[in-house]
Amino acid sequence: MQGDEGGTSVHPETLDSIREELGECVRCKLHKGRKTIVFGEGDAEAKLVFVGEGPGFEEDQQGRPFVGAAGQLLTDIIEKGMRIKRAEVYICNIVKCRPPGNRNPEPDEVAACIGFVKQQIAVIRPQVIVTLGNVPTQNLLNTKEGITRMRGKWQEYEGIPVMPTFHPSYLLRSPGEKGKVWEDIKLVMKRLGLSIPSKESDS
Ligand code: URA
Repeated sequence: MQGDEGGTSVHPETLDSIREELGECVRCKLHKGRKTIVFGEGDAEAKLVFVGEGPGFEEDQQGRPFVGAAGQLLTDIIEKGMRIKRAEVYICNIVKCRPPGNRNPEPDEVAACIGFVKQQIAVIRPQVIVTLGNVPTQNLLNTKEGITRMRGKWQEYEGIPVMPTFHPSYLLRSPGEKGKVWEDIKLVMKRLGLSIPSKESDS
């Protein structure tokens, strides 16, 4: 636990060992309002990791990331857009406990938790990370730049290419922006060597 960031050890070996270290976490005040810790889920050897902000109501109830309305949209992006199975990717968040009223996590909460997502990424070593919205983009990439300027442009985190894009919750409020996310996702697919469906075969 020495020289730690967010309470995680420096060289975790597996996702299970990171989860074990997280334990019944009380490192920040978010623990007071949570029902369930939402650690993350998916393939431990995924080529692609999605990083969101933090659990919402449904995620807190179920203990799984992105299972509410925004989660359904993310699942559609993965399964209908990218044409891969959700179980083939890994999905997690910057903070593992639900912020009250779904507010953005506060800096002290991010500081207490971000080490865990960093360790998850270190274990998985994906080929690409997609950050969903401002919170993961700014905190993983150490920038104050907003998502509107960052999206669609390749960034790098610990040598791993990062594609920032809009959060699916934003798309639910602004469906007219979906095309921009699809542009970003196509760049990700290209990088992963996935075939991009032509418009004609799109369904
Ligand atoms: N929004 C997020 O950022 N993460 C989730 O897990 C669900 C909604």
